[in-house]
Amino acid sequence: MDELLFHSAYEQFYTMTRTSRAFAAYCRDAFGEDFSQDGFSDVRQVARALEHVQPGNDLHLLDVGCGSGKMLAWLQKQLGGSIHGFDYSAQAIQTAKALHTGDFRVAAIGEIDYPENSFDLITAMDTLYFAPDMAAFVGQMKRWLKPGGVLFVGYQEGDVQPRTRDVSTTVLARALEQHGLAYQAEDITRETWELLRRKRACAEKHHQAFLDEGNEMWYEMLMGQTECAMEAYEAFREKMARYIFVAKKEDAA
Ligand SMILES: C[S@@+](CC[C@H](N)C(=O)[O-])C[C@H]1O[C@@H](n2cnc3c(N)ncnc32)[C@H](O)[C@@H]1O
Repeated sequence: MDELLFHSAYEQFYTMTRTSRAFAAYCRDAFGEDFSQDGFSDVRQVARALEHVQPGNDLHLLDVGCGSGKMLAWLQKQLGGSIHGFDYSAQAIQTAKALHTGDFRVAAIGEIDYPENSFDLITAMDTLYFAPDMAAFVGQMKRWLKPGGVLFVGYQEGDVQPRTRDVSTTVLARALEQHGLAYQAEDITRETWELLRRKRACAEKHHQAFLDEGNEMWYEMLMGQTECAMEAYEAFREKMARYIFVAKKEDAA
């Protein structure tokens, strides 16, 4: 895994989140829940997935790049069912296994496989950028979904993926179309700009707690990550865009 993008940084990140009270408090304030977020998984964004899945104890939920599995556990609390997740970070999966009952695996996107028709919901919050071949991975996720199953994706342009004209020109939209997956997409760029500003304010609020734990570098990371939202929304919007995609695999005829 060592050669994969950001791998050692994520190992360090998930080692820190296992014990940092400052980071957990920051997450609760910034995102509404502590999912050990590295990115943008605000609970209000994640809750949109609930509109597309009927609760039930026989559900199977998969999270791609599940980190410490806390978001999955939250989804399970709302929907019921069993949880499955994979992440290339061994530190993250160690925590997930310690905290939750579920099927958690250390694996990289593009290398792992599941049987066809396994899942009612697949979530991928800011993880698809790491697929070596996005179109191939979308095809694989389609196969993993049960008929009628839902793919729910948080997707950003302007950092790992370059900014394109609009939602229809994103690499993800093209991959979904290629696989015949009808999708709806919501533009949440303004909400994301506001979230970034809130992340910054919450990091500042907990600055002393980060210092007291010897976790100054993670406070600095948050400051760097949120600097782009210090400019006016109109300027931010030129460079960044964020969407929630919801795609459904058609029911078998
Ligand atoms: C931007 S973070 C998002 C994490 C989480 N979904 C969230 O919203 O906070 C990306 C996640 O994907 C994982 N990841 C990155 N590249 C990966 C890869 N090639 N295969 C599997 N997991 C990967 C990271 O360890 C991390 O947990």
